[in-house]
Amino acid sequence: MSSATPSDTSATSTTSATVSASAHRPASPPAGTESTLAPDPFGGPPVGVVRTFHPRRGRLSPQQQDAIERLWPTYGLPVDGKPRDPAALFGNGGPVVLEIGFGMGEATAAMAEAEPGVNILATDIHTPGIGNLLHLIEARGLGNVRIAEGDAVVLLTEMLPADSLAGIRVFFPDPWPKSRHHKRRLIRPGFAALAASRLAPGGTLHCATDWAPYAAWMLEVLEAEPALANTAGPGGGYVPRPDRRPMTRFERQGLAKGHEVADLIFRRV
Ligand SMILES: C[S@@+](CC[C@H](N)C(=O)[O-])C[C@H]1O[C@@H](n2cnc3c(N)ncnc32)[C@H](O)[C@@H]1O
Repeated sequence: MSSATPSDTSATSTTSATVSASAHRPASPPAGTESTLAPDPFGGPPVGVVRTFHPRRGRLSPQQQDAIERLWPTYGLPVDGKPRDPAALFGNGGPVVLEIGFGMGEATAAMAEAEPGVNILATDIHTPGIGNLLHLIEARGLGNVRIAEGDAVVLLTEMLPADSLAGIRVFFPDPWPKSRHHKRRLIRPGFAALAASRLAPGGTLHCATDWAPYAAWMLEVLEAEPALANTAGPGGGYVPRPDRRPMTRFERQGLAKGHEVADLIFRRV
């Protein structure tokens, strides 16, 4: 990732890694993920065809810009479609968990600090957040975080092998509340199948949201995926909030609005 100037920070900006990542949209889902093309009961197009985010502009603070210039070569991975062994990014033999949409990265840094034996591959497309997380990595001496800049769907479909992840964490994904935007939701049947295929058997997909209709949607989508089993037990439904999930920025905002938070944890069978 080359450094971005303060006026040049959107996902469609002229920074080379950013352009390559956001321009890298598969025209059709890659081989091996055909099951994701099963008719979508939620009426959306196949996963990977419609992006789950709008490119956002955001100014880099001097601290974020400095962190990107100095630290990106060490901790960064462009989402360029080239297959990668996630364990090799860390080289310590520990399990790798993918966090999708880390925002400003505070929760990522807190999890990495609390679980030093777990490697976190954190992905987002938001450049200021990437700068912020790089700063946190250095400030807290975190050796178990790497950052992938780009679309998590591309990262999963084209770069990460089957059975390679111990976990996938998706905390407060954009809820896309309007029905005409539901097709942009990350958690959809095709995504559930894709995520399950990248998890090692026994690995977990942990989602949390403060948007009740999205929580119900997630439950329906994940319950319908045969390669995933709900850890909530025979009754199904949501799980109690796990202690190890730190409070995130979007969670705090949701709670301030009086929203209830739902956690869902499914295990790859
Ligand atoms: C609502 S924010 C939540 C951020 C953080 N997890 C929190 O709880 O504070 C959702 C984040 O997901 C990112 N995002 C959305 N779609 C993504 C995708 N396909 N790949 C990577 N990041 C994505 C957005 O850029 C944004 O930072």
